Formats: sequence, C-alpha cells, structure tokens
Amino acid sequence: MELPFAESFRIKMIEPIYKSSREERLNWIQKAKYNLFNIKSNQVFVDLLTDSGTGAMSDKQWSEMMLGDESYAGASSYYKLKNAIKNIMGFDYFLPTHQGRAAENVLFSVLVKEGDIVPGNSHFDTTKGHIEFRKATAVDCTIDEAFDTTKQHPFKGNVDLNKLDDVLKSYASKVPFVIITITNNTAGGQPVDLDNIKEVYSLCQTYGKMLIFDSARFAENAYFIKQRNPKYANSSIKEIVKEIYSYADATTMSAKKDAIVNMGGFIGMKSKSLFDKASVYNIMFEGFITYGGMSGRDMNALAQGLDENTEFSTLENRIEQVAYLGRKLVEYGVPVQEPFGGHAIFVDAKRFFPHIPKEHYLAQTLAVETYIEGGVRGVEIGSILADRDPITKLDRFPKLELMRLAIPRRTYTNNHMDYVAATLGNVFERRNSIKSGFRITHEAPILRHFTVELERI
Ligand code: F0G
Repeated sequence: MELPFAESFRIKMIEPIYKSSREERLNWIQKAKYNLFNIKSNQVFVDLLTDSGTGAMSDKQWSEMMLGDESYAGASSYYKLKNAIKNIMGFDYFLPTHQGRAAENVLFSVLVKEGDIVPGNSHFDTTKGHIEFRKATAVDCTIDEAFDTTKQHPFKGNVDLNKLDDVLKSYASKVPFVIITITNNTAGGQPVDLDNIKEVYSLCQTYGKMLIFDSARFAENAYFIKQRNPKYANSSIKEIVKEIYSYADATTMSAKKDAIVNMGGFIGMKSKSLFDKASVYNIMFEGFITYGGMSGRDMNALAQGLDENTEFSTLENRIEQVAYLGRKLVEYGVPVQEPFGGHAIFVDAKRFFPHIPKEHYLAQTLAVETYIEGGVRGVEIGSILADRDPITKLDRFPKLELMRLAIPRRTYTNNHMDYVAATLGNVFERRNSIKSGFRITHEAPILRHFTVELERI
C-alpha cells in the first residue's frame, strides 16, 4: 500500500498542558469579559490563537542560541543574519527589529505621511494600524474571489490589477509604495502567485512606485507557488523565494512566523539611501543598527530558522498538518475558507451562524463557544479586529467574518488536530441553540480587539 504522509522530525522535549473542565472554562471566559486575549495560557488546552512566536525551534536553532554574540556593536550574530537575508532574499541592506510591527513602524516613519494612500492585498491589522496612525489610508485591492469562502481559486491572496491600477491612476502622487502581504493572512492565509507579483511589479514600474512585501509567511507562499503554479513545479523553495524578492524594493518581516523564532523581525532593503533614512528611526525606536531590538542569540536562531524553513520538507510538514485539520472540519460540515490556508484554517462565521445578526460579532461568538466547548483558543478575524472607521466612527463590517485556528509550527500532533476538529464539530451541531452573540462594553480607539470587553446579548 502507499505509505501515509508522516512528519520528517521527532520530538525531543515536551511541555505538559492542562485539560480543564467546561465549568472552569465558563467561569474563566466570563471573568475575561469574553476576550480570549485575557485568558491565561494554562486555561487553554489547544492554543491556536496564533502561529506567531509559538513554534518549536529545532535542535540546530537552539545550538545557535549558545553561539550568540551579545556585543553592542558589530556582533558576529548581526553578520550571520545579514548573510542569511542576503543569501535567501537577496537584500543588501537590513535592519533588525524586535518584531514585524516594529519593522513597519520604522519603515513607515520614513515612507508614509498624512494624506497618503497605500494600496495592497488586505493589509494586516498592524500594517493598517501603522498607516492609519499616520493619517494615511490603506486601500484593499485583493481579488474578489478571496471574499467568497466557497470559491476555489489557487491564489486567493492575489492583487486585483484593475483595482490597483484604478488607485494608482486616481491617486498616483499620494501613493508612496504598494505593499503585498505574502501569504495574505487576513483573507485566510491565502497565497499570492508569482505571476501576480510580476504583474504588480510591472504596474509599479509604470507608475514609478516602490513595491514592498510584508513577508511574515513568505516561505509558505513559496511552497504554494511550487504546488499550484506548474511553471515552478521543479523549482526549489529557495529558488522561488529568490525570484519573489527580485521584484521587491524592500520588505518588512515578522520573523515570529516563517523564521520560526519566538521574537524578532527585520526590514530588508535594496537601496542604501532608504537604509540610511530608516537607520535613524531604527536607532531611536529599536536599538543600534547591529542589534535593533534583538539579542545576538535571537539573531543567530533567526538566521538558522530562515534557512530551515525555506526547505521543502519543513514546509510540507507544516502545510500538511494545516490541511489535515481542514479536511477533518470539512468532514464535520464546518464551513471554512477553501482552499485551506498556509498557517491556519479560517472558519466562516457568517455561514456558521446565518441566523444571528452581524452586529453580534459572529466570529467572536464562535471563538467563545469553541473555547467553552473544548478549551481550544482561536481568534476573531472579523468586525472587532476591523476597528471603527476612523472618520465615521462606525463599526466596519468586513466582507469576511472569520474565526482563525492558527497552527503553531512543530508544536501539536495530529491527535490535537482531531480534538480541535471534534470541538468545532460539536459547536456546529448545537449551532441553532446559540441564538445571540455579544455587545462591546469597553474598547480602545485603535487595535481594539486586544483589550475589548464584551457582554452577552
Ligand atoms: N504582517 C502580517 C501578515 C502578520 O500576520 C503580522 C502578525 C504582522 C505583520 C506583525 O508582526 O506580530 O511580529 O509584530 N501577525 C500575528 C498573527 C500577530 O497572529 O497573525 P508582529
């Protein structure tokens, strides 16, 4: 018989996790004001809040930690990371930052000013936050297929070239750059095709605009290009990655995802003059150029992680596990974004709860019920995350109202995935007995989802 897929690693260290009771969880979630960010980690059984900084490092990454050089200036760890970024992504210049949003803060301090328009494909919330904080506007030019979770399309993260052209045509002078997020997290961990990247690049060339990547999950994106674009079937992941970045002027990177470290990030740049300008802000906000918010050991682990996670087998292990959960959920009838994303399965809360009004925050309702049912923590990617419109101050209801189940890299087994799927299956079975959701009792003016407080309607 054909042998089944199995992971090409084994486990050397384990961390016990607590299985709570339903009664305990009902009590905890009420005390947490129905915000899963307020739940303590030991009150969670399977934690799928995020794949960011939650992965398990390899033996080689841990051994790199011991070799870290903690010199304030000129540390060998900085040069190790500089070489890795140059070899893998091709950037001559880079600045370390403590995580992805810090890279956005530094780079956007140079590039974004009041009144600017920044088109892209579903900017991540911190990206949008850093644009709006500077009184500029993020315009989403993702293809329409992304917003129908039932539609099959191999590259739902793609940029719609007509939408982008319209923005560039109408506001050319106000656009500092175009940003492509690979993979497109907000639309469901959906990849962007290399052909689409080339077309966006050529449009950017026409209008004389820089093209910047948000690279948090660039390696997963490369894996999907290899799997879904026949032209790249025989290319290695590293070759695909090199080609992706041949079209980039710069990148922001949250290394907590595809570099499999617990903390870290960077800005990659091709231009010396951009590097010089960004360095000023990096020194102010993050730290001196050769450490920028990271310790030497962390830069070493990051360099090693970048190399490991641009290998096919590492990515196959991961994406196969995500797909395993996706297939189980589909078996139980749970409506999810298809094709399955790279880092997470996104449950479509509008299709889950068609009988509840959208003003009740459907994805949050689903996340709370999932937690109560099995101690599984997902996260709302919906109208709470979308914040209020900065001008009208009204709730924004995005086209997609999703609960994300993000799988940490190399952390859980497929038994855990079975458990998660059964938890969702149970909630789905009793969905009609859930008649209402939540209202907000307290919220922050921006990035409100982290601290929002809710009560049951
Ligand atoms: N860009 C994307 C696409 C992201 O998914 C994230 C973080 C960031 C930028 C910001 O990076 O967290 O290192 O500051 N996403 C996490 C998530 C938080 O759960 O998806 P950061």
